[in-house]
Amino acid sequence: MKTMSRDPRVLKAIKNLSEIQRVYLVISSKGGVGKTTISTLLALYEASRNRMTGLLDLDFVNPSTHVFLGLKPEELKYEEEKGVKPYTVKNNLFYFSIVSYTRDKPIALRGREAVNALWEILAIVNWGPLHSLFIDTPPGIGDEHVELLYTLKDKTKPIVVSTPSKLSLNSIEKLIQILKEAGFREIYLLENMGDGSLQNYAEENKLVYLGYIPKSSRLEESIGNTEKLLELDVATYIYNILSKLS
Ligand SMILES: Nc1ncnc2c1ncn2[C@@H]1O[C@H](COP(=O)(O)OP(=O)(O)OP(=O)(O)O)[C@@H](O)[C@H]1O
Ligand SMILES: [Mg+2]
Repeated sequence: MKTMSRDPRVLKAIKNLSEIQRVYLVISSKGGVGKTTISTLLALYEASRNRMTGLLDLDFVNPSTHVFLGLKPEELKYEEEKGVKPYTVKNNLFYFSIVSYTRDKPIALRGREAVNALWEILAIVNWGPLHSLFIDTPPGIGDEHVELLYTLKDKTKPIVVSTPSKLSLNSIEKLIQILKEAGFREIYLLENMGDGSLQNYAEENKLVYLGYIPKSSRLEESIGNTEKLLELDVATYIYNILSKLS
């Protein structure tokens, strides 16, 4: 596996991430299991614990973290200072999504194009010192995932999201294999819309079980309102997961 280590953008990306203590890649080969929900909620709740936190949307086909945060693409303006500064959502929460450039128009980046866009973004966004950065990713295992995983494996920790459904578990098996082959020592498993039934699965597969988030009856009505999102019925579960990460 080539690492593209001579690509100046990769070196710049590594430098941009160097002041961040923890970088989490929220990932799943299965679509619709809650990657966007989880990455946004973890970032929002972490920031509420007075920690400098970043949220980066790397889902080029269907970026949607801004919908969760109640941000319109046109209000997302980035200042330029030694690269591009992320947008300040609220105290301690910094954000970057390409939706400010694409304005909700679909862009179908494939293969090499997606990989190029990814390095371009990581090379220009200057996060500064953060406690944690959460990265939302598209479903599947595309070229961009694989390249990011191999190149940044010393810097990033993967959080695999799965529901307890057999369909989801069947799908993440290959992803877990890829992560192990890439040399990740700690692979986190977060069970979404579950009840704790994946704890055994995590142990059997040598994954670090982060816990579970049950189905929230208040999530849908809270999307777009950060204050409401911070008062979800599942808040305790989210804080428990964050305390396992730190
Ligand atoms: N814990 C939860 N409780 C209730 N609803 C949830 C929960 N987690 C996710 N959802 C809902 O499930 C749907 C899918 O979630 P989300 O978009 O976060 O998944 P995703 O994995 O990012 O999807 P994609 O693969 O398309 O990017 C959304 O409508 C979301 O609001
Ligand atoms: Mg998503």
